[in-house]
Amino acid sequence: MSIILKNLSLETERTIIKDALPSDIDFIMEMENDKDNKDFVWQGTYEDHQGEINDPDYMLLVIVEKESLERIGFFLMHYNVKSKSMEIRRIAINKKGLGYARETLRKMIDFSFKEVGANRVWLDCYTDNLRGIPLYESLAFKREGILRESYLSDSGFKDQIIFSILKAEWTRN
Ligand SMILES: CC(C)(COP(=O)(O)OP(=O)(O)OC[C@H]1O[C@@H](n2cnc3c(N)ncnc32)[C@H](O)[C@@H]1OP(=O)(O)O)[C@@H](O)C(=O)NCCC(=O)NCCS
Repeated sequence: MSIILKNLSLETERTIIKDALPSDIDFIMEMENDKDNKDFVWQGTYEDHQGEINDPDYMLLVIVEKESLERIGFFLMHYNVKSKSMEIRRIAINKKGLGYARETLRKMIDFSFKEVGANRVWLDCYTDNLRGIPLYESLAFKREGILRESYLSDSGFKDQIIFSILKAEWTRN
């Protein structure tokens, strides 16, 4: 598979987005299990994340704030080569409300279309994710539909919205 999904170091105005190393896995697991994130992102095991680092179709990325050099979030993305379809599996930001998700998502969508050659970028989002939904809509993702009661959480069944954006829509943006 394409080498382009590994050894990444992408820059935005305030961040650097780069490949996670095994030494970043504890940070990623802490973020997944953080009380403000855990209802909205899946929690992987150490072995899951090691596998994602080694799998050429995955990008496990940490987001580093340039000013402080602190890690402030992460992405997990999966590319389906055959269908040119990039899934944003997980995103979490710990310095919330400062525009970091929008800034880094823009970069990763742009990278997916222009550098990887994706035709579609998509993700799913629980219907009670009141931060995520307006964020994706503001980036011109389209709602494709709802997977009804598709996930059984501790508090009951949850619905998932499927959001996508196509290359032609992004370049028109
Ligand atoms: C969702 C998440 C990634 C957003 O990250 P963020 O850096 O805080 O988001 P941004 O600051 O870039 O905000 C972009 C937009 O998101 C929405 N948003 C962000 N915080 C919000 C809040 N507290 N309430 C409502 N909308 C909010 C707004 O539309 C905002 O745009 P605006 O500032 O122009 O109003 C972050 O809140 C997070 O880690 N949440 C937990 C994990 C998660 O839900 N991941 C996504 C799973 S689908």
